Amino acid sequence: MAPLIEVRNLKKYFAIDGGLFSRTRALLKAVDDISFTIDRGETLGLVGESGCGKTTAGRTICRLYEPTAGSVTFDGVPIYSLPPSEMLPLRRRIQMIFQDPYASLNPRMTVGDIVGEPIDIHGLAQSKQERLEMVHELLHTVGLSPEHATRFPHEFSGGQRQRIGVARALAVEPEFIICDEPISALDVSIQAQVINMLEELQEKRKLTYLFIAHDLAMVKHTSHRIAVMYLGKIVELAGSAELYKNPQHPYTQALLSAIPIPDPDVEAERQRIILEGDVPSPIDPPIGCRFRTRCKMAKKICSEQDPEFVNLGDHYVACHLVK
Ligand SMILES: Nc1ncnc2c1ncn2[C@@H]1O[C@H](COP(=O)(O)OP(=O)(O)O)[C@@H](O)[C@H]1O
Ligand SMILES: [Mg+2]
Repeated sequence: MAPLIEVRNLKKYFAIDGGLFSRTRALLKAVDDISFTIDRGETLGLVGESGCGKTTAGRTICRLYEPTAGSVTFDGVPIYSLPPSEMLPLRRRIQMIFQDPYASLNPRMTVGDIVGEPIDIHGLAQSKQERLEMVHELLHTVGLSPEHATRFPHEFSGGQRQRIGVARALAVEPEFIICDEPISALDVSIQAQVINMLEELQEKRKLTYLFIAHDLAMVKHTSHRIAVMYLGKIVELAGSAELYKNPQHPYTQALLSAIPIPDPDVEAERQRIILEGDVPSPIDPPIGCRFRTRCKMAKKICSEQDPEFVNLGDHYVACHLVK
Protein backbone atom coordinates (compact mmCIF):
# COMPACT_ATOMS: atom_id res chain seq x y z
CA MET A 1 0.00 0.00 0.00
CA ALA A 2 1.18 3.53 -0.75
CA PRO A 3 2.51 5.45 2.24
CA LEU A 4 0.13 7.96 3.85
CA ILE A 5 2.75 10.72 3.74
CA GLU A 6 5.53 11.19 1.29
CA VAL A 7 8.03 14.01 1.88
CA ARG A 8 10.32 14.66 -1.08
CA ASN A 9 13.35 16.97 -1.13
CA LEU A 10 11.71 19.35 1.29
CA LYS A 11 13.48 22.65 2.00
CA LYS A 12 12.53 25.53 4.22
CA TYR A 13 14.81 28.56 4.28
CA PHE A 14 14.16 31.68 6.31
CA ALA A 15 15.33 35.07 5.06
CA ILE A 16 16.87 36.84 8.02
CA ASP A 17 18.77 40.08 8.60
CA GLY A 18 22.43 39.68 7.81
CA GLY A 19 23.45 41.52 10.99
CA LEU A 20 23.67 45.01 12.39
CA PHE A 21 25.82 46.53 9.65
CA SER A 22 24.71 44.36 6.81
CA ARG A 23 22.13 45.44 4.30
CA THR A 24 21.84 42.05 2.73
CA ARG A 25 19.58 39.39 4.00
CA ALA A 26 21.02 35.98 4.72
CA LEU A 27 19.31 32.64 4.23
CA LEU A 28 18.93 30.40 7.21
CA LYS A 29 18.61 26.84 5.93
CA ALA A 30 16.46 25.34 8.67
CA VAL A 31 15.38 22.32 6.60
CA ASP A 32 17.63 21.53 3.69
CA ASP A 33 16.44 18.71 1.48
CA ILE A 34 14.82 15.99 3.53
CA SER A 35 12.89 13.00 2.17
CA PHE A 36 10.98 10.21 3.88
CA THR A 37 7.66 8.39 3.87
CA ILE A 38 5.33 7.37 6.69
CA ASP A 39 2.98 4.42 6.36
CA ARG A 40 -0.55 4.34 7.70
CA GLY A 41 -0.56 3.51 11.40
CA GLU A 42 3.17 4.00 11.65
CA THR A 43 5.13 6.23 14.01
CA LEU A 44 8.22 7.82 12.52
CA GLY A 45 10.52 9.34 15.13
CA LEU A 46 12.39 12.50 14.09
CA VAL A 47 15.34 13.11 16.36
CA GLY A 48 18.12 15.65 16.64
CA GLU A 49 19.63 18.33 18.85
CA SER A 50 17.83 21.58 19.45
CA GLY A 51 18.00 23.89 16.42
CA CYS A 52 18.49 21.15 13.82
CA GLY A 53 15.18 21.94 12.10
CA LYS A 54 12.65 19.47 13.55
CA THR A 55 9.90 21.95 14.36
CA THR A 56 10.38 23.74 11.04
CA ALA A 57 10.08 20.39 9.26
CA GLY A 58 6.88 19.56 11.17
CA ARG A 59 5.33 22.96 10.51
CA THR A 60 6.22 22.87 6.83
CA ILE A 61 4.87 19.34 6.39
CA CYS A 62 1.43 20.44 7.60
CA ARG A 63 1.79 23.70 5.66
CA LEU A 64 1.81 26.04 8.63
CA TYR A 65 4.86 27.29 6.68
CA GLU A 66 5.08 27.45 2.91
CA PRO A 67 8.04 25.39 1.67
CA THR A 68 11.08 26.81 -0.13
CA ALA A 69 11.22 23.70 -2.32
CA GLY A 70 10.10 20.10 -2.42
CA SER A 71 6.79 18.30 -2.09
CA VAL A 72 4.60 16.65 0.50
CA THR A 73 2.00 14.18 -0.68
CA PHE A 74 -0.71 13.24 1.79
CA ASP A 75 -2.88 10.27 0.82
CA GLY A 76 -2.09 10.96 -2.83
CA VAL A 77 -2.74 14.72 -2.60
CA PRO A 78 0.24 17.03 -3.29
CA ILE A 79 -0.58 19.52 -0.54
CA TYR A 80 1.47 22.50 -1.71
CA SER A 81 -0.32 22.43 -5.07
CA LEU A 82 -3.65 23.15 -3.39
CA PRO A 83 -4.75 26.77 -3.28
CA PRO A 84 -4.63 27.84 0.40
CA SER A 85 -8.43 28.12 0.35
CA GLU A 86 -8.68 24.39 -0.34
CA MET A 87 -6.48 23.40 2.58
CA LEU A 88 -9.34 23.24 5.11
CA PRO A 89 -10.37 19.61 4.47
CA LEU A 90 -6.71 18.57 4.79
CA ARG A 91 -6.23 20.60 7.96
CA ARG A 92 -8.87 18.35 9.44
CA ARG A 93 -6.91 15.24 8.56
CA ILE A 94 -3.52 16.54 9.72
CA GLN A 95 -3.03 17.93 13.21
CA MET A 96 -0.07 19.08 15.24
CA ILE A 97 0.57 18.84 18.99
CA PHE A 98 3.01 21.43 20.24
CA GLN A 99 6.00 21.23 22.51
CA ASP A 100 5.03 23.80 25.08
CA PRO A 101 1.63 23.13 26.66
CA TYR A 102 1.94 26.49 28.45
CA ALA A 103 2.38 28.62 25.35
CA SER A 104 0.20 26.72 22.92
CA LEU A 105 -3.14 27.10 24.73
CA ASN A 106 -4.91 30.46 24.70
CA PRO A 107 -4.95 31.53 28.39
CA ARG A 108 -8.16 33.53 27.94
CA MET A 109 -10.22 30.66 26.57
CA THR A 110 -11.94 28.01 28.65
CA VAL A 111 -10.88 24.45 28.08
CA GLY A 112 -14.29 23.80 26.56
CA ASP A 113 -13.71 26.49 23.96
CA ILE A 114 -10.11 25.45 23.29
CA VAL A 115 -11.29 21.93 22.52
CA GLY A 116 -14.51 23.14 20.87
CA GLU A 117 -12.90 25.68 18.53
CA PRO A 118 -11.83 23.17 15.87
CA ILE A 119 -15.33 21.64 16.04
CA ASP A 120 -16.70 25.09 15.17
CA ILE A 121 -14.13 25.83 12.46
CA HIS A 122 -14.91 22.59 10.68
CA GLY A 123 -18.65 22.73 11.42
CA LEU A 124 -18.70 19.30 13.04
CA ALA A 125 -21.56 19.83 15.52
CA GLN A 126 -25.18 20.37 14.51
CA SER A 127 -26.19 22.02 17.78
CA LYS A 128 -24.77 23.55 20.97
CA GLN A 129 -25.80 20.45 22.83
CA GLU A 130 -23.95 18.20 20.39
CA ARG A 131 -20.84 20.40 20.62
CA LEU A 132 -20.94 20.16 24.41
CA GLU A 133 -21.28 16.39 24.28
CA MET A 134 -18.37 16.16 21.85
CA VAL A 135 -16.18 18.30 24.11
CA HIS A 136 -17.03 16.18 27.14
CA GLU A 137 -16.33 13.00 25.22
CA LEU A 138 -12.95 14.35 24.08
CA LEU A 139 -11.99 15.36 27.61
CA HIS A 140 -12.93 11.88 28.75
CA THR A 141 -10.79 10.35 25.98
CA VAL A 142 -7.68 12.14 27.27
CA GLY A 143 -8.34 11.32 30.92
CA LEU A 144 -9.94 14.62 31.98
CA SER A 145 -13.51 15.15 33.17
CA PRO A 146 -16.50 17.21 31.93
CA GLU A 147 -16.14 19.67 34.83
CA HIS A 148 -12.78 20.73 33.42
CA ALA A 149 -14.51 22.33 30.41
CA THR A 150 -15.38 25.54 32.26
CA ARG A 151 -11.87 26.07 33.64
CA PHE A 152 -8.91 27.95 32.19
CA PRO A 153 -5.49 26.54 31.17
CA HIS A 154 -3.60 28.08 34.09
CA GLU A 155 -5.60 25.93 36.48
CA PHE A 156 -3.96 22.79 35.11
CA SER A 157 -0.62 21.05 35.46
CA GLY A 158 1.75 20.66 32.49
CA GLY A 159 0.64 17.08 31.89
CA GLN A 160 -3.04 18.04 31.99
CA ARG A 161 -2.42 20.92 29.60
CA GLN A 162 -0.78 18.60 27.15
CA ARG A 163 -3.87 16.38 27.44
CA ILE A 164 -6.00 19.41 26.57
CA GLY A 165 -3.78 19.97 23.52
CA VAL A 166 -4.28 16.35 22.52
CA ALA A 167 -8.07 16.64 22.97
CA ARG A 168 -8.05 19.71 20.73
CA ALA A 169 -6.09 17.86 18.07
CA LEU A 170 -8.43 14.85 18.27
CA ALA A 171 -11.56 17.00 17.96
CA VAL A 172 -11.43 16.88 14.16
CA GLU A 173 -10.71 13.12 14.03
CA PRO A 174 -7.37 13.47 12.26
CA GLU A 175 -5.51 10.62 10.57
CA PHE A 176 -2.03 12.05 10.95
CA ILE A 177 -0.66 13.87 14.00
CA ILE A 178 2.68 15.65 14.17
CA CYS A 179 3.73 15.44 17.80
CA ASP A 180 6.39 18.10 18.35
CA GLU A 181 8.29 17.10 21.49
CA PRO A 182 4.99 16.54 23.31
CA ILE A 183 6.66 15.40 26.53
CA SER A 184 9.90 17.42 26.62
CA ALA A 185 8.42 20.20 28.77
CA LEU A 186 6.80 17.76 31.22
CA ASP A 187 8.05 16.30 34.48
CA VAL A 188 9.76 12.96 33.94
CA SER A 189 7.20 11.35 36.26
CA ILE A 190 4.32 12.15 33.91
CA GLN A 191 6.07 11.75 30.56
CA ALA A 192 5.25 8.04 30.44
CA GLN A 193 1.55 8.68 31.07
CA VAL A 194 1.30 11.02 28.11
CA ILE A 195 3.27 8.62 25.91
CA ASN A 196 1.03 5.71 26.91
CA MET A 197 -2.04 7.77 26.13
CA LEU A 198 -0.69 8.67 22.69
CA GLU A 199 0.09 5.01 22.01
CA GLU A 200 -3.38 3.86 23.08
CA LEU A 201 -4.97 6.53 20.92
CA GLN A 202 -2.89 5.42 17.98
CA GLU A 203 -4.08 1.86 18.36
CA LYS A 204 -7.74 2.72 18.86
CA ARG A 205 -7.95 5.34 16.14
CA LYS A 206 -5.41 3.94 13.67
CA LEU A 207 -3.42 7.17 13.85
CA THR A 208 -0.19 7.89 12.03
CA TYR A 209 2.43 9.89 13.93
CA LEU A 210 5.48 11.95 13.17
CA PHE A 211 7.00 11.98 16.62
CA ILE A 212 9.62 14.68 17.16
CA ALA A 213 12.10 14.42 20.04
CA HIS A 214 15.54 15.77 20.89
CA ASP A 215 17.01 12.55 22.15
CA LEU A 216 16.92 8.95 21.07
CA ALA A 217 15.79 7.61 24.44
CA MET A 218 12.39 9.27 23.99
CA VAL A 219 11.56 7.61 20.69
CA LYS A 220 13.03 4.15 21.21
CA HIS A 221 9.83 2.46 22.30
CA THR A 222 7.30 4.60 20.51
CA SER A 223 8.68 4.71 16.97
CA HIS A 224 8.63 2.01 14.32
CA ARG A 225 11.33 3.80 12.38
CA ILE A 226 13.60 6.67 13.36
CA ALA A 227 15.08 9.50 11.29
CA VAL A 228 18.08 11.31 12.76
CA MET A 229 18.45 14.95 11.78
CA TYR A 230 21.52 17.15 11.91
CA LEU A 231 21.63 20.78 10.81
CA GLY A 232 18.70 20.64 8.42
CA LYS A 233 19.40 17.21 6.95
CA ILE A 234 18.47 13.63 7.74
CA VAL A 235 21.72 11.74 8.27
CA GLU A 236 20.30 8.31 9.06
CA LEU A 237 16.95 6.53 8.87
CA ALA A 238 16.24 2.96 9.91
CA GLY A 239 13.88 0.71 11.86
CA SER A 240 13.97 1.53 15.54
CA ALA A 241 15.58 -1.75 16.70
CA GLU A 242 18.04 -1.70 13.81
CA LEU A 243 19.11 1.88 14.52
CA TYR A 244 19.83 1.06 18.16
CA LYS A 245 21.66 -2.14 17.39
CA ASN A 246 23.53 -1.06 14.34
CA PRO A 247 23.93 2.73 14.12
CA GLN A 248 26.02 3.71 11.10
CA HIS A 249 26.37 7.46 11.19
CA PRO A 250 28.94 8.86 13.66
CA TYR A 251 26.32 11.39 14.81
CA THR A 252 23.77 8.66 15.60
CA GLN A 253 26.51 6.73 17.40
CA ALA A 254 27.30 9.79 19.51
CA LEU A 255 23.64 10.38 20.36
CA LEU A 256 23.22 6.74 21.35
CA SER A 257 26.32 6.70 23.50
CA ALA A 258 24.87 9.60 25.51
CA ILE A 259 21.94 7.46 26.69
CA PRO A 260 22.74 5.78 30.03
CA ILE A 261 22.31 2.00 30.17
CA PRO A 262 20.60 0.72 33.34
CA ASP A 263 23.07 -2.18 33.77
CA PRO A 264 26.06 -0.76 35.76
CA ASP A 265 28.53 -3.36 34.40
CA VAL A 266 27.66 -2.61 30.81
CA GLU A 267 27.68 1.10 31.60
CA ALA A 268 31.19 0.92 33.13
CA GLU A 269 32.58 -0.85 30.08
CA ARG A 270 31.08 1.53 27.64
CA GLN A 271 32.90 4.19 25.72
CA ARG A 272 31.16 7.51 25.54
CA ILE A 273 31.49 9.49 22.37
CA ILE A 274 31.58 13.10 23.46
CA LEU A 275 30.35 15.56 20.87
CA GLU A 276 32.61 18.57 20.98
CA GLY A 277 31.66 22.08 20.06
CA ASP A 278 28.26 23.44 19.17
CA VAL A 279 26.09 22.78 16.17
CA PRO A 280 27.34 25.17 13.44
CA SER A 281 25.03 27.91 12.19
CA PRO A 282 22.45 26.93 9.59
CA ILE A 283 23.15 30.31 7.94
CA ASP A 284 26.61 29.20 6.96
CA PRO A 285 26.74 25.40 7.30
CA PRO A 286 30.03 23.54 6.70
CA ILE A 287 30.70 22.66 3.07
CA GLY A 288 30.63 18.94 2.34
CA CYS A 289 29.30 16.86 5.20
CA ARG A 290 27.68 19.16 7.74
CA PHE A 291 28.72 16.97 10.64
CA ARG A 292 32.42 16.89 9.71
CA THR A 293 33.39 19.79 12.04
CA ARG A 294 32.41 17.65 15.03
CA CYS A 295 33.27 14.24 13.61
CA LYS A 296 36.36 12.48 14.93
CA MET A 297 36.54 10.29 11.83
CA ALA A 298 36.30 13.03 9.20
CA LYS A 299 38.52 12.60 6.13
CA LYS A 300 39.41 14.87 3.25
CA ILE A 301 36.41 13.89 1.16
CA CYS A 302 34.06 14.92 3.99
CA SER A 303 34.95 18.60 3.50
CA GLU A 304 34.68 18.33 -0.29
CA GLN A 305 31.44 16.55 -1.06
CA ASP A 306 28.02 16.41 0.46
CA PRO A 307 27.46 12.69 1.20
CA GLU A 308 24.53 11.03 -0.54
CA PHE A 309 21.71 9.39 1.37
CA VAL A 310 22.46 5.76 0.56
CA ASN A 311 20.15 2.79 1.10
CA LEU A 312 21.92 -0.12 2.79
CA GLY A 313 18.68 -2.18 2.75
CA ASP A 314 15.86 -0.44 4.65
CA HIS A 315 18.62 1.47 6.41
CA TYR A 316 19.61 4.83 4.96
CA VAL A 317 22.73 6.75 5.86
CA ALA A 318 24.51 9.85 4.57
CA CYS A 319 28.18 9.38 5.42
CA HIS A 320 31.29 9.06 3.24
CA LEU A 321 32.81 6.61 5.71
CA VAL A 322 30.01 4.08 5.53
CA LYS A 323 30.30 1.69 2.65
N1 LIG B 1 10.40 31.59 11.97
C1 LIG B 1 11.74 31.52 11.91
N2 LIG B 1 12.48 32.52 11.36
C2 LIG B 1 13.82 32.44 11.28
N3 LIG B 1 14.55 31.38 11.73
C3 LIG B 1 13.87 30.37 12.29
C4 LIG B 1 12.45 30.37 12.41
N4 LIG B 1 12.05 29.21 13.01
C5 LIG B 1 13.19 28.52 13.26
N5 LIG B 1 14.28 29.21 12.83
C6 LIG B 1 15.67 28.74 12.89
O1 LIG B 1 15.70 27.52 12.16
C7 LIG B 1 16.59 26.60 12.80
C8 LIG B 1 15.82 25.34 13.14
O2 LIG B 1 14.89 25.65 14.16
P1 LIG B 1 13.80 24.60 14.67
O3 LIG B 1 13.09 24.07 13.49
O4 LIG B 1 12.99 25.28 15.72
O5 LIG B 1 14.71 23.47 15.30
P2 LIG B 1 14.37 22.35 16.39
O6 LIG B 1 12.88 22.21 16.45
O7 LIG B 1 15.07 21.12 15.89
O8 LIG B 1 14.94 22.82 17.69
C9 LIG B 1 17.16 27.32 14.01
O9 LIG B 1 18.41 27.88 13.64
C10 LIG B 1 16.15 28.41 14.27
O10 LIG B 1 16.76 29.52 14.88
MG1 LIG C 1 11.59 22.31 18.07
